[in-house]
Amino acid sequence: MSTILALTSSALGEASVSNGLVAGVLERLRAQQPALRIISRDLGHAPVDHLTLDSAAALRGAAPANAAQEAALAVSNELLDELREADTILIGAPMYNFGITSTLKTWFDHVLRAGLTFRYTEAGPVGLMTGKRAIVVETRGGFYSSGPTQAMDAQEPHLRGLLGFIGITDVTFIRAEKLGFGPEPRAASIAQARAELDAALLEPAEAA
Ligand SMILES: Cc1cc2nc3c(=O)[nH]c(=O)nc-3n(C[C@H](O)[C@H](O)[C@H](O)COP(=O)(O)O)c2cc1C
Repeated sequence: MSTILALTSSALGEASVSNGLVAGVLERLRAQQPALRIISRDLGHAPVDHLTLDSAAALRGAAPANAAQEAALAVSNELLDELREADTILIGAPMYNFGITSTLKTWFDHVLRAGLTFRYTEAGPVGLMTGKRAIVVETRGGFYSSGPTQAMDAQEPHLRGLLGFIGITDVTFIRAEKLGFGPEPRAASIAQARAELDAALLEPAEAA
């Protein structure tokens, strides 16, 4: 691992569990691997604009026809450069209304670009961002890993599909669930997620 792109997408700032888990493991990584390059994007704090007529046109390959299209293309290209440069993508993904946050969805809207991150072939779409690894921290107030609520999880399948579509198939999901079930389940879930994150990202000698 030489460059890590850390995307966070919670609206809850410092109170956010996913923000805290991502910030914590980045701090431990910095201490362990000083040469590691870290690109951070807090989409919850500084969201990318939703797609509009102008940005959708620019991102689909039309030559920019006005200032709004030029600006949208520049933002998308910057996000794409960050993705290309990273060999590891760390994503903080809270569950909002059974899915991902709109801010994270908008990031994907800006980087899923035909001819750049995927291409269509006669055999179907092919992802072009191969050779990368993703670690996704999913935070949830409830519990969706098994039982009757499992079918309501529109977060993990969506993320697996989005990442896979652009060729990122090596994905580790770390779930911090039951965050709304009271202090004890919440603390246990956060501790477990932290240990899983360390095991996924830190060198073994340093893993918690
Ligand atoms: C707008 C909003 C929608 C939410 N929707 C769900 C939901 O559908 N299912 C769930 O289990 N928790 C839901 N929650 C709870 C969050 O998943 C939980 O608070 C989680 O800790 C938020 O992630 P974060 O702490 O990483 O920011 C929702 C929270 C917010 C703010």
